Amino acid sequence: MTLYLTQKDVESVLDMKGAVEAVEDGFREMGLGRIEMPARVYLHFEKYDGVLIAMPAYILGLDAAGLKVVTVHPGNPEKYGLPAVIATIILNDPRNGKPLAIMDGTYITALRTGGAGACGAKYLSRKDSRVAGIIGLGVQGRSQLMGLCEVRDIEKAKVFDIAPAARRRYAEEMSRKLGIDIEAVDSYEAAVRGVDIVVTCTPSQEPFLKGEWIEEGMHISAIGADTAAKRELDSSVIRKVDKLVVDFIDQALVVGDLAVPISEGVIGREDIYAELGEIVAGKKKGRESDEEITLFKATGLAIQDVGTAFKVYQLAKERGIGREL
Ligand SMILES: NC(=O)c1ccc[n+]([C@@H]2O[C@H](COP(=O)([O-])OP(=O)(O)OC[C@H]3O[C@@H](n4cnc5c(N)ncnc54)[C@H](O)[C@@H]3O)[C@@H](O)[C@H]2O)c1
Repeated sequence: MTLYLTQKDVESVLDMKGAVEAVEDGFREMGLGRIEMPARVYLHFEKYDGVLIAMPAYILGLDAAGLKVVTVHPGNPEKYGLPAVIATIILNDPRNGKPLAIMDGTYITALRTGGAGACGAKYLSRKDSRVAGIIGLGVQGRSQLMGLCEVRDIEKAKVFDIAPAARRRYAEEMSRKLGIDIEAVDSYEAAVRGVDIVVTCTPSQEPFLKGEWIEEGMHISAIGADTAAKRELDSSVIRKVDKLVVDFIDQALVVGDLAVPISEGVIGREDIYAELGEIVAGKKKGRESDEEITLFKATGLAIQDVGTAFKVYQLAKERGIGREL
């Protein structure tokens, strides 16, 4: 028997707190060298401006293994009323290969990415961080702020999106949902000035975040650029950062946010301070002073999907949710 879980089923058992925990556990396992996670495999649907990515992983400590197939089509919401990111996850039993579950991975992708941003902020942002600046107000704009609220006492968010209607919708929805003050602003700069934590989560191919807006003690989570063509951070940001942390060096080096500054000679591979897993596992220190400027560059890892999906599977089994096939 294989358990089938729809998006509704997944939503009924998984919340942001659970996603943050699952992702943090996955990073710890990674830091301790107890995972297997080969490089992602891509198919490019160039004429449709989309990609398909296959992401397998095995987390030895949990004995959880599986594969996520995820597509990214930035034009989806406007063209088809579909999310930009759509995913399915298959979990297999490592002992015998049996498929344990097939589940929607779209909601898991949204939440585990918020969980990753939150985990980065937990170890790298100032503990007294109160104000967040969110740029890009789609699925990730929501998930990232929800994640931050799990790890810091966020009282206010300044938010910006190139689509003015998205700003208004987001401000109404998220202030109701999180009970915090949300100020929709009309420029990138206004979303960054005076905040403690900046999150960029757009599909932009042009850098928009400038070093001159980044102040002492800030933490930046750069989430949106997850392929070579995408880039949110100007090289001037990278130059200003004291502690540059990535989720996975091999992946981070090829995405636009780091690949371009490296090609320009602004930084080298040796300037990457750590993978987040090393910090979560206690091998390296996270933030060490209130003045440090920290950056977490997240590209998305299969262990986040498999770890979160495994938690969803266990909760669904406990509660009798889903359909056995
Ligand atoms: N790092 C990861 O693990 C990870 C995981 C999931 C998604 N992503 C990436 O995050 C990005 C956002 O994903 P999503 O699911 O939230 O997409 P989405 O379509 O739901 O939201 C994107 C939002 O960004 C806005 N936007 C687009 N270009 C902009 C720009 N130049 N400046 C400001 N706002 C802009 C859009 O109007 C939209 O509101 C994508 O690039 C996606 O591939 C990364």
